[in-house]
Amino acid sequence: MTTPITEALKERRAIRRYLPKPVPDDLLKEILAEARWAPSATNTQSTYVYVLSGEPFEQFKTELKMYSESEVPEAPDLVNTRDMPPELKARQEELFRTRMSFIAAEEAKMGIKPQDPPVPPLVAGAAIFGAPLVLVLAMPKIIGLPYGCFDAGMLAQSIALAAHVRGLGTCITGSNVRYAELLRKVLPGTDDKSFIVAIAMGYPDLEAPVNRFPRTRIPVDEFVTFVR
Ligand SMILES: Cc1cc2nc3c(=O)[nH]c(=O)nc-3n(C[C@H](O)[C@H](O)[C@H](O)COP(=O)(O)O)c2cc1C
Repeated sequence: MTTPITEALKERRAIRRYLPKPVPDDLLKEILAEARWAPSATNTQSTYVYVLSGEPFEQFKTELKMYSESEVPEAPDLVNTRDMPPELKARQEELFRTRMSFIAAEEAKMGIKPQDPPVPPLVAGAAIFGAPLVLVLAMPKIIGLPYGCFDAGMLAQSIALAAHVRGLGTCITGSNVRYAELLRKVLPGTDDKSFIVAIAMGYPDLEAPVNRFPRTRIPVDEFVTFVR
């Protein structure tokens, strides 16, 4: 059965290369007005969204690049221990492997030579995929993060879907909030907030191999247990 949301759920994908084209404010507001219908615990609507673009965004990216080049130890508000069971690690490795080999093959076809020496991924990542803006999702520090960030997750997926059906791309990122102090410098009034994720948004470059590699999902039986 195909429902009104089937296509959006399956076609939305992380977009990691954008066209140099701004997102109109009205369109962004329309997306956010739709996404605010996401559920939240006891309807607290605990997630705050900071839209970072223009000069402050450029300043943030410059500093992010400097920190990445100097390999400053990351200090996010939401700590990722990166511990995981082996089956999850295997899926992560499969993603990296599939993505890298697809991109290498496509770029070879397009006559694009790999950069020599290669730019370290976190340094290249500081360009935030050439997106015209990021939405930084934050919540009051007082809220217990492991539970509270569930609200932010619901909002993040809602934003991604509402953007996708309007022809915009998004990429939810943890890496771009890994230096909370840099965000606190450019985002006003955030001393009492924890940063959860940054969502890159813009018009997708549909030709870019990084936006075209095949994605997979595990079968339902692999993650669902029926107990009757
Ligand atoms: C909490 C979270 C953090 C993520 N952080 C990053 C990131 O830092 N960089 C990145 O390129 N993608 C990031 N992603 C995107 C995932 O890699 C992506 O959603 C996953 O590989 C599935 O691919 P798809 O979204 O294209 O279906 C993140 C996604 C989530 C939900």
